[in-house]
This record gives sequence, C-alpha cells and structure tokens, in this order.
Amino acid sequence: MKKTVLLIITLFVLTIMQAQNTLPVYLDDSKPIEQRIEDALSRMTLEEKVALVHAQSKFSSAGVQRLGIPENWMTDGPHGIRAEVFWDEWDQAGWTNDSCMAFPALTCLAATWNPEMAALYGKSIGEEARYRNKNVLLGPGVNIYRTPLNGRNFEYMGEDPYLASRMVVPYIQGVQKNGVAACVKHFALNNQEKDRHTVNVTVDDRTLYEIYLPAFKAAVTEGKAWAIMGSYNRYKGQWACQNEYLLNDILRGEWGFDGAVVSDWGGVNNTEQAIYHGLDMEFGSWTNGLSEGKSNAYDSYYLADPFLDLLRSGKVNPEEVDKKVRNILRLVFRTTMDRNRPFGSFATPEHGLAARQIAEEGIVLLKNTDNLLPIRLETTKKIAVIGENAIKMMTIGGGSSSLKAKYEISPLDGIKNKAGKRADVVYVRGYVGEETAEQDGLKSAQNLTETRSPEALLAEAIDVAKVADVVIFIGGLNKHDGQDCEGADREELGLPYGQDQLISALAKVNKNLVVVILSGNAVAMPWVNEVPAIVETWYLGSEAGNALANVLTGDVNPSGKLPFTFPVQLSDVGAHSLGDYPGKDYEETYHEGLFVGYRWNDKNKIKPLFPFGHGLSYTQFAYGKAAISAKTMPANGQLIVTVPVKNAGNKAGKEIVQLYIGDEKSSLVRPVKELKSFRKIDLAPGEEKNVEFTVSVDDLKFFDDTKHEWRAEPGKFTVYVGASSADMRSTVDFELK
Ligand code: BGC
Repeated sequence: MKKTVLLIITLFVLTIMQAQNTLPVYLDDSKPIEQRIEDALSRMTLEEKVALVHAQSKFSSAGVQRLGIPENWMTDGPHGIRAEVFWDEWDQAGWTNDSCMAFPALTCLAATWNPEMAALYGKSIGEEARYRNKNVLLGPGVNIYRTPLNGRNFEYMGEDPYLASRMVVPYIQGVQKNGVAACVKHFALNNQEKDRHTVNVTVDDRTLYEIYLPAFKAAVTEGKAWAIMGSYNRYKGQWACQNEYLLNDILRGEWGFDGAVVSDWGGVNNTEQAIYHGLDMEFGSWTNGLSEGKSNAYDSYYLADPFLDLLRSGKVNPEEVDKKVRNILRLVFRTTMDRNRPFGSFATPEHGLAARQIAEEGIVLLKNTDNLLPIRLETTKKIAVIGENAIKMMTIGGGSSSLKAKYEISPLDGIKNKAGKRADVVYVRGYVGEETAEQDGLKSAQNLTETRSPEALLAEAIDVAKVADVVIFIGGLNKHDGQDCEGADREELGLPYGQDQLISALAKVNKNLVVVILSGNAVAMPWVNEVPAIVETWYLGSEAGNALANVLTGDVNPSGKLPFTFPVQLSDVGAHSLGDYPGKDYEETYHEGLFVGYRWNDKNKIKPLFPFGHGLSYTQFAYGKAAISAKTMPANGQLIVTVPVKNAGNKAGKEIVQLYIGDEKSSLVRPVKELKSFRKIDLAPGEEKNVEFTVSVDDLKFFDDTKHEWRAEPGKFTVYVGASSADMRSTVDFELK
C-alpha cells in the first residue's frame, strides 16, 4: 500500500516537472507551424497585434517582447545588403562593419540565362542578409521591361515573362535556404518610375496574366516566396499595396500565397483599403515624430492607431488583424524563429567569386567584327582606355539598391591588373558626367572634379586614341537621377554627356575601337556601324573590373545574351509608338497589350538594333536540324524537340539555345512567337551536344479572359529553335488535336 502511494506521488511530481519543462506550443518547433501560429495569436493582446502590422523604424517592425517573438528586420536588396541606417532615416548610420559584397545588377543576372547563377546569387546574398541579422531581403524585382526609359529596369529581369520566371525561382530558393525571406517586388505593374506614386494602369486581363504576372506567379507558386512587396502605382483605381484585385483575388485567391504582403515604403494611402485589401505590413509611410511631433509618429501610420481605434470600437472585426498577424507570424517562424537556420557569412572571398562568376556570365558581346576581341595581350603594346565609366563607382547611387560595398574594382583597374607588364594602359576621361555619386549620406571617396572643357577632353582623347593599338571606350549610363536610378525615368534613349560624338570621333582615328556600355537599359547607338566591337556590361558590382577584363582579354569566353530588346529608336517600342507612355493625367493604358519587347518587333516587322536573346561568343556554334518526337501532340500533352549544336570554333564556350513557339492559327491574336524554353550548354572545341526540350500543352496556352482560364486551341504550332529571338536556326511544326 505504502509502495503504491509512493509511486503515485512520484508520477505526480514527474508529471508536474514535465509540464514545467514543456515549451508553450508556439515555441515548440516540433509542432506544425499553423498550430504554433494559433497558439501565439491566442496569447497576444490587441495592442500587440496591431504593433506587428506596421513599422517601428525605417526598416523594422515590432516583435512581441513579452512572448520573446523577435522583431522583423528588412534590408534592401536586391544587389547586396544595404548599409545600416539610422532608426528613423534613410541615411546610413556610419557603422564600420556593414560593407557588403556588391553583386551584379539583376539585368546582368537575367543576361546569364543560367538558373544555376540565379541559385548562386540567391544563396550568396541570402547568406549576407542572414549574417547581418536581416530576416527579409527586399528583392528580387521582376517587373517587366516595357520601356527603355524606366529608371529602374536595372533592378529587374528583362522583358520576357518566361525568362524572368526561370531566373527568379532559384534566386528565391537560394535566399530562403538561409532562413531569410525573399520579398519579391514590386507587385504589380510598376513599369515606370515617372509618376510612380500616382499613375493608374489600365491593362487588359490577357496582357496582365500573360505578360506582367507570370514571374510573380512563379515566385509564389514555385519559388514559394515568403514575402511580396506591393508597388506604388494604382491598378483599377486602387493603390497596388492595398488592392483587392491584385492581393486578395489573384495573389492569395488564385495563387494561394500564404506569406506576408509588405507595402512599398510609403505605398499605403488609406486605412480602410489597407485593412481589407490584403496588405499585412505597412512601411515607410513617414518617419517618426522625434523631430516632427506625434502627428508624424509610427503610431499614426494607417495600420497603427487608426486601425486600433476601429478595432477597439468594434467597427472592424478582430479577425481582420488576426489574418495579418497570422501571415506575419508565419514569416517569423520561417525565418528568425527557425532554430535550424544557418548563420550566414558576409563579404567573403566566396561571395566575391560568386559575384565575379555571375558578372562574367552576364556580360554580352553585342558585336565583334573581324574578331577584334578578345584583345591579345601578347601582341598588343598600347591600350587606350577612354571614358568616365572606366573609373566611376557604380555601387553607390540608383536609389534604394545603392550599396556600401566592401570594394569595387573599376573597369580601368581590372584592365590594368590584367595587362600587368604585358601592355601599356593609358587612361583619359573623354567626357564628364554628373558629380561623384552620393546616396543616403554615403559618398564615394572619388574626386571626379574636372575643370577642362568638353572640347579639351575630346581633343585629348583623340590624341591618345590615335597612337594606341586598341582603344577601349567605357561609357554608357550611370546611377544618377534621370539615368539608371529609382524615382525618375530617363528622358531619352540616347547616351548622355556627348558620348555619341566622342565615340564617332574615336572611330575615325582608330579602327580598333571597342565600345563598352555600362547600363541597365538599352541605349541608342547611332554609331553602331562605325565601330567594330561592342560589349554590354551592365552594373557588375564589386568584381566589375575583374570580370570585364577577363572577358575583354579572352580568359573568359562571353556567354551572356540580352534579356531585353535594344530598339533603334524609341518609336520602335509599343508603349512609345502608341503614345501611351507616360500616361495622361496619371492614367495610362497599355494599348500595346501583349506586344512588349520582341513581341512588338515581330508583330510589326521592326528590325531592332540588337534583338532579345542576342549575344556573341569568341567561338561559333553550328546548329543542326531540329527534330520533333511526333507530328501531333499526344494525349499526355508532351513532345520532345531535339537539336544538335556544335562548337565549330577553337575555343571552349557556352551557348544559350532558345526555343520559341508560335500558334499558327488561333481565334484571337497571338504573338508571332514566344520564348518557352532555353538551355545554356557548355561545349569544348569541336564538341557537339544534342539539346533536348520538352514542349507541353501548357506552353501552347493563352489566357482566355472571357472564361478567366488558360486554354490551348487545337491547330498547328511552329517550334523555332535559335540563337536569339531574331536568329532562328531551325523550325519544326506539329498539330495539337
Ligand atoms: C523602393 C523599394 C525599396 C524600399 C526600401 C522604396 O522606395 O521602391 O524597392 O525596397 O524603398 O528602401
């Protein structure tokens, strides 16, 4: 009897001890996330919930201190980790441990056409964010390239929804492996910077679903992005950050997004729509009241006190805040509260290597008459490098993507280092752009003051060019307002600062002229027929000069291809030809519809300056005849297309083989052809590979806006296999029954 009592007491004590040791459900990561979310939610007061749904500082939002739920810390994105800023300000705070690795701009990543590079990019930048204790990376951006004037194109992945989709997914997966959320931006229809806070976009559903949404959809449904950022503009009269069509109907309703919707900084404009239209977190509406008083404090954000008052008074159902808090807690559990997430690393040599590899694969050789490139250092004695962009820092400036980079190798230094003692490198400026870059209190240490006249600079450049074996002109755009920069658009397609005249003048005195363009956008090239070699080199980040020098000298064989069309003139672009851009009275209809980029050129038979998908190599690739597995698409809806591709030159190289499909007869207008697949293959000299593509019925579908569904129509389809959108090497056709 005594023994039994003792046993019962012992069991009782053990049970109590165990209960005391047991974690509350929300902290117990053996429990399913949804259960943890409900448990945490049930412990929170209304005030604590509302505190979660808006900013507490420029880049952070509150956690729940009482429950040990951490704060959210966001960082730009998308090319590197932004410097630490002051609590309430955009300005950098002067920390000495926050200089990051600058990765190439996303246009360069897209130009690699290599999903493995996107994975490497995502993994590396995710590690940097993780190390700096940021749990949300504000990027990548996948707004479609609609006009070459958009000041922010350099932060996006080009004009084609398929290419952008294939590149964005691995980037997101790479970032999120680190327990850092990718916040894909700017959702949606943010295709210009001009009037970005006010413009109301009207676009038909077919165009929306076929052109502007696919990359976001892939980011959500395949990449499983944990966060998405609304854009500043309006759609159907509602601001995108508080838009029932985009956020409730499409993002959550159709795509099943379960992450957090974050506003763009200052993108929220009223409380009611912010409550009901799918937004979870409000950022950047204004800074707090330390200097301007209570009216400006975070408590006055649309989703702060005004929301709390409505909840307290019973005018808004508590479920409305609970919905948002669930999404935010899910974000927190996936990131900061994931005990298994790695620790990250920052500005390491490995990240430098990654940045360089991506840069090297993204550089595009546009033209190379008589194989002027690569420069043979063994036989070249004197190299003249001319142009401001050879020395100008490009990681600072451009708006929110501006970086405090640990280092940035300029093109000139890259070329000098590469040449070493083998060739003499002489540099002159040639032209002068704006003052040295400054962004948010961060200034480049460069002093680029120049007092000489443009004529004197031109004369000097010509003198130097005359006596050189080869001239490398390095110009293009830069990260100043009105160039490749957030907040404004470019005013013209042409190059600024008199570069066109300078290039033509150089071409006259030296036939060995290489023009290197740094830009995130297409530029006009009135001198295109005067110069033998042209290279598009984007903004390449920390390793810019090394990557460029490797390509120019042939240590790396270029393999990038254009992710957007270079038009001859602005009127060759749908948005401009039809006079829609930039809208009238803040209303803009996308009348060109589906016909963005090469789709417009194809439809109107307009020859571009350089087509989408174009890029040369130092070797040549010979395409054989494409073959198709059947002449009719079978019931499983799949066909295999194969094409032999051979490296016919004597240098190893990579080729991007592209597959486009055209619907020969359809009940509604369709683009002549659309990119549906691509492969980047590596070939040794003389090597041949059989490149295989799977074509499925999904690749034939269009969005039927009368039925609101994707549909393929029976009939004949043509498959085009080629080296660019304007260089088809082989076609096959088949019938869909
Ligand atoms: C930009 C966003 C950026 C945010 C925070 C906004 O102005 O549009 O892309 O992430 O600022 O810097």
